[in-house]
Amino acid sequence: MSKISNISVVGLGKLGLCLAAVFAEKDYSVTGIDVDKSKIDSVNNGKSPIFEPGLDEMISSNKTRLKATDDFDTIKNTDATFVVVPTPSDESGEFSLEFVTPVMKKIGKVLSSKTGYHLVVLCSTVMPNSMDSVVRPVLESTSGKKCGKDFGLCYNPEFIALGDVIKGFLNPDFILVGESDAKAGEMISEVHQKISNAPIQRMNFVNAEIAKIAVNSFVTMKISFANTLAEICENMPGGDVEKITSAIGKDKRIGTAYLKGALGYGGPCFPRDNVAFARFANKVGIDAQLAVATHDINIKQVNRIVNLVESIGVKPPAKVGVLGLTYKPKTNVTEESQSLMLVNLLSEKGFQVYAYDPAFVNSSENVVNPKITLTKNMEDCIIPSELCIIATPWEEFSKIDKSKFSNKIILDCWRMFARDGLTNALRYLVAGKNPND
Ligand SMILES: NC(=O)c1ccc[n+]([C@@H]2O[C@H](COP(=O)([O-])OP(=O)(O)OC[C@H]3O[C@@H](n4cnc5c(N)ncnc54)[C@H](O)[C@@H]3O)[C@@H](O)[C@H]2O)c1
Repeated sequence: MSKISNISVVGLGKLGLCLAAVFAEKDYSVTGIDVDKSKIDSVNNGKSPIFEPGLDEMISSNKTRLKATDDFDTIKNTDATFVVVPTPSDESGEFSLEFVTPVMKKIGKVLSSKTGYHLVVLCSTVMPNSMDSVVRPVLESTSGKKCGKDFGLCYNPEFIALGDVIKGFLNPDFILVGESDAKAGEMISEVHQKISNAPIQRMNFVNAEIAKIAVNSFVTMKISFANTLAEICENMPGGDVEKITSAIGKDKRIGTAYLKGALGYGGPCFPRDNVAFARFANKVGIDAQLAVATHDINIKQVNRIVNLVESIGVKPPAKVGVLGLTYKPKTNVTEESQSLMLVNLLSEKGFQVYAYDPAFVNSSENVVNPKITLTKNMEDCIIPSELCIIATPWEEFSKIDKSKFSNKIILDCWRMFARDGLTNALRYLVAGKNPND
């Protein structure tokens, strides 16, 4: 079997650059290809252009094995090409191939003059049937070669979470592989076995494509279920979602992961993967009611929190400080962030909103509308506010001097503070518990 020692990675974004760095760390010689000149320069200078824990260090310590370029011809000098370009959702909720198809055409063109076998791997999330109906035919027609004979093709989506991408690559629960043929599947398995001991699930393309979005649809269903329990508890004297989820999570059929009554899910993957799952089901004549309900519940969560605020008598134009804007800690991504939606809704309702997020302390990025005061430290967000909401559970929030919350009402969506540490606070409320208890 052909051995892989030189790898090219097309798309040096949040996922692709981490993947390229991990390959280099595992002794592969890696060529990263991107259209963004600033990313190429940054990587070639041994620096990460992306906010992701551990990535800068990994790029700098593997400088000799990781190079970046915009030249697709370099693919010829590699044994395998991983493609990690965007697949934005279109209006119907389907993933578009507008970036994948041109990249596959370019790869096919390079393969037309390459002697020897090559493995092409798509990591971007795609709609089921994309590999068989678009990706394979495009590669075959532009290369003039036969898939499964002259080159191999795999679909190998990842299940990482931003902020933990490197850890996710090094310690995955499982590896999902859709393969054109056994040789291609064995080659990619060999690469993954060099990275982790995770079980490798190999199958045809369409099953891997469905499995990828099914994972996120199932996980989001758990989150929406826990948030439904939280809402029930908020409306029931004596109710406490944490007591319930920690008990039912002990049942092996349920499990505690992603079973926390707090805010809804956000980010670049969960919302759109679940919507795409429902859309795909629809296309094959199935009404995926669970996925639809999961989404409907999720988009109501920010309203649930604002209703909770108003139910305790905090009304516009009260000053409210919100800690956290990103969709999760350890990332600067605010796409579909419930914390960002929360500050926007509070502001729309006429509250005077202060917001703080560690990811934007040194950034000039305009993440909030001009009516919202984005502060450069936690104190400036807390001090003027009558009510403080912990919206994104950044670890640094738990380290704050608790006396800063003196005479404030706190609404802790993630239960980061024990009540005992906040003796000066006027009131300490948590999501998923009746505010009058
Ligand atoms: N970010 C995540 O959390 C995550 C998790 C799982 C799956 N995914 C999937 O991975 C894929 C990539 O996501 P991402 O978050 O890394 O995207 P991203 O936008 O951060 O990065 C994409 C990169 O591709 C480059 N690119 C675009 N067109 C190109 C071209 N023609 N040639 C070369 N490079 C090109 C861009 O310049 C950019 O650097 C998507 O399909 C996404 O759904 C992402």
